[in-house]
Amino acid sequence: MEYVTLSNGVKMPILGYGVYQVTKDECERCVLDALEVGYRSIDTAQSYFNEEEVGSAMKKSGIPREEIFLTSKVWVEHYGYEETRKSVEESLRKLQTDYLDLMLLHQPFNDYYGAYRALEDLYDEGKLRAIGVSNFYPDRLVDLASFTRIPPMVNQIETHVLNQRTEDYEWMSKYHVAHEAWAPFGEGRGGLFDNEALKQIGEKYGKTTAQVMLRWNIQRGVIVLPKSTHKERMIQNLDVFDFTLTDEDMSAIAGLDTKTSAFFSHYDPNMVEWFVKMVEERKKQ
Ligand code: A2P
Repeated sequence: MEYVTLSNGVKMPILGYGVYQVTKDECERCVLDALEVGYRSIDTAQSYFNEEEVGSAMKKSGIPREEIFLTSKVWVEHYGYEETRKSVEESLRKLQTDYLDLMLLHQPFNDYYGAYRALEDLYDEGKLRAIGVSNFYPDRLVDLASFTRIPPMVNQIETHVLNQRTEDYEWMSKYHVAHEAWAPFGEGRGGLFDNEALKQIGEKYGKTTAQVMLRWNIQRGVIVLPKSTHKERMIQNLDVFDFTLTDEDMSAIAGLDTKTSAFFSHYDPNMVEWFVKMVEERKKQ
């Protein structure tokens, strides 16, 4: 495994297992499989409703807590200083641990400044080894990094071959914020798993398109969080450290960038509609 050193010196595996959309029923088994095949970084969130299952899988695995890099995210409904503090305690209880390796603010909405102040204090208290954000466009990120006592160490954003986020990457580097990719396969949208250019590159190394997509991000220094509910694919997605893409491969992949989200239109009302839906649905739970 390779690691990225965050701005506070904490080392984070460059590849981890994400559990977005992994249902409560499947989650414990999936995380146990992931840990068994060698993943040592697990990414969950309050809004995924599977923190308890992640916690029980970690316990059942018998792997010492300090060998696992554990990330969760505070959901917007729990923003504001006091609410965030309470919700982090709740996450720790559900995850059966007394600290998180990384806690992120899930979205740049509601009182995220209040929420961030809570993360800063929890960081000082040793309950969070690193803190950061997710889904922050450069404007919000630079704002936050400029006006906080402890600048964010990570920004987790949609990043894949079709939406490479090179400008975001530049801003993040400037502010020492590690770039973490969610949906590193773009969930396979746009025919990514069958992309001819990726297939041809993969054939040279005996690797799949999925492995090429992960390797490309890793070589850019971007942390990846592939998710699969299938053990063979978990193994495949971890098997990306024994080959190196050439500069030509990297430029060919750079040419596939559409600079467009596979999920949302940039600053588009769809994004707001999606957000409203998420908030409404989660209120009902
Ligand atoms: P599955 O869980 O059935 O394996 P992303 O990480 O970009 O959100 O993409 C997740 C999707 O990609 C899931 O639908 C997952 O399906 C699929 N997937 C994950 N790994 C692979 C792989 N190595 N080959 C093909 N599909 C994969």
